[in-house]
Amino acid sequence: MSALPLGIDFGGTGIKGAPVDLDSGDFAVERVRIPTPRPATPDAVAAVFVELLAAFPEAGGPVGVTVPGIVRHGVVGSAANIDDSWVGVDADALFSEATSREVHVVNDADAAGLAEVRYGAAAGRRGLVILTTLGTGIGSAMVHDGVLVPNSELGHLLVGGAIGGAVAEERASNRARESEDLSMEEWAARLTDYYRHLERLFSPDLFLVGGGISKRSEEFLPLLEIDTEIIPATLRNKAGVVGAALHAVHAAG
Ligand code: BGC
Repeated sequence: MSALPLGIDFGGTGIKGAPVDLDSGDFAVERVRIPTPRPATPDAVAAVFVELLAAFPEAGGPVGVTVPGIVRHGVVGSAANIDDSWVGVDADALFSEATSREVHVVNDADAAGLAEVRYGAAAGRRGLVILTTLGTGIGSAMVHDGVLVPNSELGHLLVGGAIGGAVAEERASNRARESEDLSMEEWAARLTDYYRHLERLFSPDLFLVGGGISKRSEEFLPLLEIDTEIIPATLRNKAGVVGAALHAVHAAG
């Protein structure tokens, strides 16, 4: 068994895992995807991790897992879009015990940010890079000179203007676009308000846009009226797995 780290991306519909080659930032072996159990309680999800680990004897290194919520020192602190039973759970301890391996959890957007700054769209960029993932919610990662400031949760900012004094992700996520049947122009107006607010607060050097909709970035990024450079993330659905593996190796020291 080699010491490759294993990255696991825990999402709403699927749990994806693969051993990661940290030199190339790519999967060392083809990934495996298992449907997310319902309800996706921590115990039910731990059972899926045991199954995933058995599929990858080559991944003997630390295991990283993304979680779509706040994660402080392995403890899950919020569950905006996942089962409420996650809040307060020491996920590092629970998953390490269930799998008999060293497991480290990390916020999903933070994992993607780490991966994009190391291998993707922001590789080699200095200054403040803010990744936002536009999906069911809005996830965020703030990376300054390659160092992550975790749990920024910029999707939960209250934003005014066209967004109307609401929680940003409730009005500007891709789910909001779909459920309110917004045109790209209408959605872009909300995104403009959102990114302008982030510009005022953080003066970033670069915005990255991730999430499945970033595949269609040419349909909405040119419509944004902001001053900061904004580009699509490039690692797509690999970012979570690769970033989780990076985090695990870092956390394992
Ligand atoms: C959660 C974040 C998460 C984002 C994307 C938000 O609702 O609060 O922690 O990164 O959704 O999944």
